[in-house]
Amino acid sequence: MSSVVPHPEQAWTTGTAPGIFPFLGHAITLFRQPLAFLTSLPAHGDLVEVRLGPQRAWMACHPELVHEILMDPRTYDKGGPLYDKLRLLMGDGLVTSGQEAHRRQRRLVQPSFRPSRIADYAETMGEEAELECRQWQPGEFDVSGALMALTTQVTSRVLLSDSLDAATAAEVRDCLAVIVRGLFVRMVAPIDALFRIPTPANRRYRRALDRLHTIIDSAIEERRAGAPRNDLLGTLLGTGGSNGGATALTEQEVHDQLITLLLTGVEAPALCLASAFRLLAAHPEVERRVHREVDAVLAGRRRPRPDDLPHLVYTRCVVDETLRMYPPGWLFTRITTTDTNLAGRRLPRGTTVLYSPYLLHHDPVSFPDPDRFVPERWLPGQEATVPNGAMLPFAAGNRKCMGDTFAMAEATLAIAAIASRWRLRSLPGCAEQPVPAVTLGHRSLVMICEPRSRTLVGEPSRGSSRECSVAPPVQDAPQVPEDSRTAGDEGVCDA
Ligand code: HEM
Repeated sequence: MSSVVPHPEQAWTTGTAPGIFPFLGHAITLFRQPLAFLTSLPAHGDLVEVRLGPQRAWMACHPELVHEILMDPRTYDKGGPLYDKLRLLMGDGLVTSGQEAHRRQRRLVQPSFRPSRIADYAETMGEEAELECRQWQPGEFDVSGALMALTTQVTSRVLLSDSLDAATAAEVRDCLAVIVRGLFVRMVAPIDALFRIPTPANRRYRRALDRLHTIIDSAIEERRAGAPRNDLLGTLLGTGGSNGGATALTEQEVHDQLITLLLTGVEAPALCLASAFRLLAAHPEVERRVHREVDAVLAGRRRPRPDDLPHLVYTRCVVDETLRMYPPGWLFTRITTTDTNLAGRRLPRGTTVLYSPYLLHHDPVSFPDPDRFVPERWLPGQEATVPNGAMLPFAAGNRKCMGDTFAMAEATLAIAAIASRWRLRSLPGCAEQPVPAVTLGHRSLVMICEPRSRTLVGEPSRGSSRECSVAPPVQDAPQVPEDSRTAGDEGVCDA
């Protein structure tokens, strides 16, 4: 069903998604085939009604409508039952806070993500990426685990300097993996009581959440008792350099921001990287171009530096295109704080509105041939062909991802460090697909790690030779056709 509604500038269409089940609405379809469900919605209108259990919500399918929502946070705020549930798990940090509390929090945390600070962090990113992939061995290995280890290490150093030892950082990584897997289903399932049943999955989830809170509390306690540090925890406690020494957050708020930054800062970049390597393995011509660029820019070094970033142009395009195809942040909600009009439809106060970067990024009007991996779309000069608001991996407006520049630098430098040493190949017959949970991506990716054969410049190996130990010539992996619209439609991941 689809109806045309008059609008001053445009005749918007509104409709209702088909396939409503009694009591559950579209929840079953959204769980079973979330990505196919999302990409089917624009056929029913620019603004489409979907039902999550008894709750009605409106999905904005047109980039201009999404832009209208994101640029008017007073009318379209975070809130409603989903955020109430998320707040129970993450506290009241940047991601979950409503408009009023958010402005104050963002002012305090934002300075730590200024471009000048990112340059410092980029040093850490290059160093950690090089250390991580130095330990890799040829053969089959858990790429997702290794990339989570890398991003946990980077984020925890930026947040907490060296407050977490290696074992605790590994624990944080494991806890985050369990939490993000279980979060989505707990947010959207209409029956909360299911998660109080002591099943192994529920117990695992509870243990991971409790442990993460305990680790954060100990880090804060130790820092209060020890010397001030100029890291993000220092800033939050008012003892670092960035907020003029004024403490403006309560103890609980500091805790909530750290949980928020760990949850947002670790998993999404790891998923983006895993998806990028999966896509590179399936597209050898793109991989070769990345190798050529990385070899030229690093010129034989193993550790990428912050000043390499402007030269890793194509590598960055690979990150952009990965984020287009598989945006880790794939589905978000807002709630109307007042009666309003969207696409010519009256939305009463308290209406849930949805937007999906995944849906927008797979719209063939904005991205011709949207299921093809084409990093060239993002080469300088080409981005101009992308309609405004059609590419939103980091959202927009005042709730735009605070770590966008951070994440782009981290992913670009990690690909450079890894690609300078290793080539990751898909396991024969493996069709690992991105799995939607609270985030979307390849989260249990096992690949084959092969050393790249290349000549090292200015970096003699242990013997007198300047050659890297040469691996057998690498065969190009057969190109695996991948349909990103149905990829992941083995359903939503639950722990
Ligand atoms: C590829 C990596 C990343 C992606 C795709 C991503 C995506 C997003 C998106 C789409 C939002 C907006 C959510 C909404 O509209 O409700 C967001 C918010 C946020 N992200 Fe990221 N993010 C990434 C990495 C990071 C990193 C590395 C950090 C920090 C270290 C971070 C911190 C945040 C924070 C604090 C917010 C909340 C901002 C606010 O409401 O003021 N993100 N992210």
